[in-house]
Amino acid sequence: MSETAHRASITGKIGFVFAASASAVGLGNLWRFPYLTSHYGGGIFVIIYIILALTFGFSLMIAEIALGRKTGKSCISAFGDLCKKYKWIGVIAALIPLLIVPYYCVIGGWVTKWFVTSATGELGTLADGSYWGQYITGEISGMSDPTAWFVIFVLLCVACVAIGVDKGIEKLSRILMPALFIMIIGITVYEFFAIDGIMDGINFYLNPDVSKLSGGTFLGAISQIFYSMSLAMGIMITYGSYMKKDVSIENSARNIGVIDTVVAILAGLMIIPAAFTMGFGDSSGMGLMFVALPQVFEGMPGGFVVAPIFYLLVLFAALTSAVSLLETVISVFVDLKAIRRKKSIIISTILIVFLGFFSVMGFGPWYFDIGPFSQGAGWLGVFDSLTNSVLMPIIAILTCIFIGYVIKVTVITDEIKEGGMAFRFEKPFVIMIKYVCPVLLTFMLVFGLLDMFGVFSLY
Ligand code: TRP
Repeated sequence: MSETAHRASITGKIGFVFAASASAVGLGNLWRFPYLTSHYGGGIFVIIYIILALTFGFSLMIAEIALGRKTGKSCISAFGDLCKKYKWIGVIAALIPLLIVPYYCVIGGWVTKWFVTSATGELGTLADGSYWGQYITGEISGMSDPTAWFVIFVLLCVACVAIGVDKGIEKLSRILMPALFIMIIGITVYEFFAIDGIMDGINFYLNPDVSKLSGGTFLGAISQIFYSMSLAMGIMITYGSYMKKDVSIENSARNIGVIDTVVAILAGLMIIPAAFTMGFGDSSGMGLMFVALPQVFEGMPGGFVVAPIFYLLVLFAALTSAVSLLETVISVFVDLKAIRRKKSIIISTILIVFLGFFSVMGFGPWYFDIGPFSQGAGWLGVFDSLTNSVLMPIIAILTCIFIGYVIKVTVITDEIKEGGMAFRFEKPFVIMIKYVCPVLLTFMLVFGLLDMFGVFSLY
């Protein structure tokens, strides 16, 4: 995709919010948020998540978009452009997607498998509560099947990027994303009436239990904000660089943040109470989305049609996000190594398949457990924790210091107010970026990590 084509494709207010939301809404909302919420004790996690999203998430989103629009550059050059000495922040941020795409594609592979299996009339197989666990560990069909679906998902992404259908995908997402949204609501309403005892599950999801609060809750919530809102990896900087000056950064950031959070909370409402009521709760961990829902579909009139449509829409949401992650990886190689795009696509694909293979095998023969840091998920858990709970908080802290103390925060607030645009959140924004974010993020990072490695517990 050429620069001009992309720049032309996201002009206008709605266009910008839509493109950025299509990248933000993905497996983070549908898969990661529900399983983390379940893991960290339900309602208390939801509350902390919402509070942090409205403060940290919103401020960082504004900062990144403004940084991009100010410089008109993607992540690597944006930092370097404003201050040469700090280009390395952009370089590290840009490398994070390379660690995320591989395991993202492993989960994308599961979604593809669930789509194909439910579409070929085998919903009953998926509805067996132990199927997911046995499938990913290779007990059912060996490791070749999960590997194959992972590779299929990678190739699907690569094909989209290589034949340049990104723009088509963006157009399609204008229909399919709202469709997914409506479907989530429909399934939730159905569950409400059809599942006995669902209120207990809803209570677990929405009623905070303060005794479940720990350092991990905060680190989990902040990691989820970075992941779900596509922050702290340069993506929003790149999106910002495509944004026109007559569009409000503040309003756009708010809209993207609200859309992303609403989808996550609804996805949680669809998955968690049902899973809780059916007794899956925390035991299924990362598989939450894959164990409870097939059972819901199986009991639903017409569920054999609803299930494949649902997984297809999830597949699509995952694909749009994975494609934009992959685009970043490819452009990083082009920028850094000055190699051609085609060569960069090939190198990226090989690296992604190589790294992702560890995540696939990490559930089977290469399994290991180093406590909460590996999240009971071997390599996939390590990649997930390393990026979301370590590297991204570090990048976010550095971004705040860079804006607050190196280039000075007025450079960013002036950009936001460019052309007489209102910036209602200005005061809190400045305080967040200069003091609250860097200080609290550092605390969270340090204590959260100690908590994760069991050195220190905040309970
Ligand atoms: N936000 C995406 C999701 O919720 C995942 C993601 C994180 C992402 N960073 C990204 C997608 C960068 C595209 C680009 O699934």
